[in-house]
Amino acid sequence: MTAGTPPAARGAVFPDRPDVLRGRVAVVIGGTSGIGRAIAAGLADAGAEVVPTSRRDEAVRAAVQEVCASQTRRLSQAVDVASRDSIDRLRDGVLATFGRVDILVNAAGIHLRQESLSVSLAQWNEVLAINLSGTFLACQSFAPHLLDRGWGRIINIASLGSYVGLYEATAYSVSKAGVLALTRCLGAEWAARGVCVNALVPGVFVTPINRRLLEGTPRLQEILLRTPMRRTGRLSELVGAALFLASESASFMTGQTIVVDGGFLAAGITGNPYGAPDNDARAADEEARE
Ligand SMILES: NC(=O)c1ccc[n+]([C@@H]2O[C@H](COP(=O)([O-])OP(=O)(O)OC[C@H]3O[C@@H](n4cnc5c(N)ncnc54)[C@H](OP(=O)(O)O)[C@@H]3O)[C@@H](O)[C@H]2O)c1
Repeated sequence: MTAGTPPAARGAVFPDRPDVLRGRVAVVIGGTSGIGRAIAAGLADAGAEVVPTSRRDEAVRAAVQEVCASQTRRLSQAVDVASRDSIDRLRDGVLATFGRVDILVNAAGIHLRQESLSVSLAQWNEVLAINLSGTFLACQSFAPHLLDRGWGRIINIASLGSYVGLYEATAYSVSKAGVLALTRCLGAEWAARGVCVNALVPGVFVTPINRRLLEGTPRLQEILLRTPMRRTGRLSELVGAALFLASESASFMTGQTIVVDGGFLAAGITGNPYGAPDNDARAADEEARE
């Protein structure tokens, strides 16, 4: 599988409940690429009618064609989360086409790696506008409908940067820390009205957002050293957590986070990061004991 494509093996994640989202309508903003697209495909495979969208019309059309192949009703409508008007037009289009929305996934995002001293205010504002304010505006636009109906699931995509400082990615990390705070606040505010707001934290998944930053670089080497599973994630490995958060099963969970990161955040000392030497040491130890 190349980075950024949806999981190769599509199909039921929970074989005993393959249609867990039958009858639900899900909007996945940022659903035309990488993580959002994999989640959109997973929701569709679980029976939901899905609206994958982002800024680029051609990317939206391609995602709809692939992700929504088995749907009778489809909507290809682009959106820019930097604009509340654009988000409202998307919401209106979804309601006109499907008559309802049940699930909103906020996966739109951009990255900026640059040493902090040279980040301009315009660059800072762009990252915050898309990653944080865009998530807020989408929640604000869609929530009245969810709240009126008394059932809703919002899944915001956060990041390792929500918890730890990602080197030379200050605006990005700040935006993603904000996404967790936003998730907690909205989760608490809407808890009693049937709308659960949770966050999904992917570890490192190679997608168009970070491929150039990672592939063949010391940064990827360091990530692998700090990841107990010693690899980056496969997009299909995010789908189960997303399905759970989108489903009835998450009815008593809100303002919370699921981290899918190969152990990155759990680890202090990761053990044997360089492979052979530690094994050699263990073998020598055992030899010495014999
Ligand atoms: N990959 C990782 O390791 C990783 C880890 C943790 C968190 N994340 C987060 O996961 C989310 C998805 O990232 P990804 O890795 O899947 O990257 P990606 O493949 O580059 O996808 C980003 C998506 O966001 C859309 N987008 C960007 N700006 C937008 C805007 N203003 N309005 C609407 N859509 C917009 C893009 O489409 P258009 O260009 O057509 O708008 C694209 O569909 C991001 O929030 C990212 O920060 C990624």
